[in-house]
Amino acid sequence: MDISLSASDLVHLFVDELRLCKVAAGEDVLVFTDPAFPHAAYPPAAFAAAKVLGANPYILVANSEDSFASHLCRSAWRSAQMVLGMSTVPRGIGSWMYTDACNDALAAGARVLMVQEPLGPLRRMKPDPAVMRRTLAGAQRMEKAREMRVASRAGSDFTLRKDGRKGAGQWGVADAPGRWDHWPSGLVGCAPLEDSAEGRYVIAPGDVLLGQWRFAMSEIEMTLHEGRITEIRGGPDATLLRDYLASFDDPDAFRLSHAGWGTDHRADWRQLGMDSESFYGSVMVSLGRNLFDAPAPHCGLGGANASPAHYDICCRGASLWLDDDLIVDDGRLVPADLR
Ligand SMILES: [Fe+2]
Repeated sequence: MDISLSASDLVHLFVDELRLCKVAAGEDVLVFTDPAFPHAAYPPAAFAAAKVLGANPYILVANSEDSFASHLCRSAWRSAQMVLGMSTVPRGIGSWMYTDACNDALAAGARVLMVQEPLGPLRRMKPDPAVMRRTLAGAQRMEKAREMRVASRAGSDFTLRKDGRKGAGQWGVADAPGRWDHWPSGLVGCAPLEDSAEGRYVIAPGDVLLGQWRFAMSEIEMTLHEGRITEIRGGPDATLLRDYLASFDDPDAFRLSHAGWGTDHRADWRQLGMDSESFYGSVMVSLGRNLFDAPAPHCGLGGANASPAHYDICCRGASLWLDDDLIVDDGRLVPADLR
């Protein structure tokens, strides 16, 4: 399909989204992309939507092999009031969120929104008041908590600490200065203290290895000690995960990155991507880099792991406690304010 025709069909979706992000007349809106970004119709649709709202849209197209370190890129990000990230730069799709350019823009007060999912999830999981309410309530509980425990039918049983670390919530809207979000999203998370995880983390067939963009077909059992994965056992998926993490030649690739639960009742487990991360009552405990921060409340991770590795893992059939409170019971959200 012709790109201009596809883009014109999307403008109303982007107008709704940018309105929720409080894009206003006179604001500078930067659409950042590169030629390898798979959804070529999104940047022009966002450009047109920003114009409908009276804002000043710009599209910056980086070379798809760009290191994302140039002064031009960084100053453009820092100078915009709203940035829409639709890019594979610098290390694959979405990797810009873990860069200094993104952190600097957020620190300068930009709102930053990631948009890279296929059209189906963008439409199906448009920002929703119930998802926002239960996610914010979850982030507030997460912020106060000091310890998390995860157990599962598959055999996981591990604890981690987060004293002083943020409780983050994603609901698909970047509407406050210094807020990052991803449309679509519905999840609560935090960066655990990097040396704190202890216990057994088991991935069952049918869970999602989002780091390799596929479902697990065999069991993976990880031993966690002092925050590091000290052993990975199991079937072929265990071998592949071990190979992935070892390929970075970096001990910090074997540490936990972020942990939390999904909050979107519209997410579909059969679809990989933000459906996996947002799936209502799922538990996501990921590995590797977590150097990502934002000044807005309940946003960013504030972690200290600078590893280039990052690997998201989403599980069903898990339970999660914050301190002594049962939050997720075998895939069911328990406290009334989080349901
Ligand atoms: Fe992640």
